[in-house]
Amino acid sequence: MAATETASDGYSARALTPQTWSDFAALVEANRGVWGGCWCVGFHAEPFTGSYDGNRDLKRALVDAGAVRQVLVYDGDDCVGWCQYGTPDELPSIKNPKAYAAELDVLPTWRIGCIFTGSRHRGRGVARAAVTAVLAEVAAAGGGLLEAYPEQVVDRKPQRGAYLHTGPESLYESLGFVRHRRIAKWRWVMRRQVDPAG
Ligand SMILES: CC(C)(COP(=O)(O)OP(=O)(O)OC[C@H]1O[C@@H](n2cnc3c(N)ncnc32)[C@H](O)[C@@H]1OP(=O)(O)O)[C@@H](O)C(=O)NCCC(=O)NCCS
Repeated sequence: MAATETASDGYSARALTPQTWSDFAALVEANRGVWGGCWCVGFHAEPFTGSYDGNRDLKRALVDAGAVRQVLVYDGDDCVGWCQYGTPDELPSIKNPKAYAAELDVLPTWRIGCIFTGSRHRGRGVARAAVTAVLAEVAAAGGGLLEAYPEQVVDRKPQRGAYLHTGPESLYESLGFVRHRRIAKWRWVMRRQVDPAG
């Protein structure tokens, strides 16, 4: 992934690389490892190590190997959120894999794994800036079919942020994604074609 810098709604975005690792790590540590120590490894091919330190070291090794595509969103100098994306081979561990495979027609070029905004920064457009930056990165990488697996939020009781680790459907809808199929009671495959950057 190119270590590009993009801007949206007053935020800037940079790629997660060895150079930006400390910014990412500070955000994860301020949020107790995210989900108690996931360190955002759950969608990668490599399995959870079972420990906070092990997951941190695994993520760091993947970043050092150039095997992670992830945009970090900055408010000034502070990293306040991220969105992880990649090819299906890079991010094979999606939720609801059986339901996903049951009606699979074609694998996407790209998929969005997880999305996260620091707990003190929610409701201010950070996730929107993160997905907008991913759209720009995918376009720069040649475009293609991009999938997300968000949670339905309308016609449903309000959900706490933690349940929305794949993002809220309304966010993707507002960025041009459309429903393709349901893979869980409240989770959808959504798709958007991204044109290559011109
Ligand atoms: C879901 C989450 C990413 C949203 O981030 P955010 O920065 O607060 O979202 P934004 O402010 O950019 O909101 C964008 C849109 O998403 C929707 N949205 C955001 N949070 C929502 C919520 N809790 N319920 C319903 N819709 C929501 C809204 O439609 C909003 O659009 P609007 O501003 O026009 O109303 C955030 O709550 C979060 O990080 N939760 C934890 C997820 C997690 O645990 N990830 C771990 C991955 S391993």
